[in-house]
Amino acid sequence: MLSRFIHLQKQVRPLFDTKDRIHGWDHALQVVENAQCIFENCSLNINSELLAVSALLHDLHYSVLLKNKIYAYIFESRISSRVARDVLDIYGIEFSQEEKEIIIKAIYNHPHSFPFRRLNKNKDLYSQVLQDADTMELFNPERAPVYLHKKQTKPRSFLKKLITNFNNYFTSHIGLYINLECTKHCSVKKN
Ligand SMILES: [Fe+2]
Repeated sequence: MLSRFIHLQKQVRPLFDTKDRIHGWDHALQVVENAQCIFENCSLNINSELLAVSALLHDLHYSVLLKNKIYAYIFESRISSRVARDVLDIYGIEFSQEEKEIIIKAIYNHPHSFPFRRLNKNKDLYSQVLQDADTMELFNPERAPVYLHKKQTKPRSFLKKLITNFNNYFTSHIGLYINLECTKHCSVKKN
């Protein structure tokens, strides 16, 4: 059913940083899964394959372009969408130009739901779902050990507490950072 997605996934896999668990390959796959969960739970009338491609490519810029993560974060809309456009031009020949624009637009709109609450409530559904799928991953409790591993110089118990508080805050304030009410069912499933 998602044959074009599977084909593209195989082609772009070598471009991903598999060691970067915050923005790399594992994160991309998890956001694809979250997006699929939202798509099903919200019974959306959009193309799930285009949604999956946008989720797969949304953070690829962290892997292929930049060592400066702060620059990548601040200008994320422009950089992530430019990288996605280049990748689709090379590997996305099975997708029409119209489909590519849908994917690129969602990627352009995906950053900064947290903490800035730059949401996509008045934008297209692809942008809304991709942003929610990515935001959920930011607060995924299973991701906490990754942060702990990266910050070994700090006291682990302090960080653990901080992350727990962070996740508790998000769970009780989730409505402030997501576009679609029905996204909540997917985040509940993860806990
Ligand atoms: Fe992401």
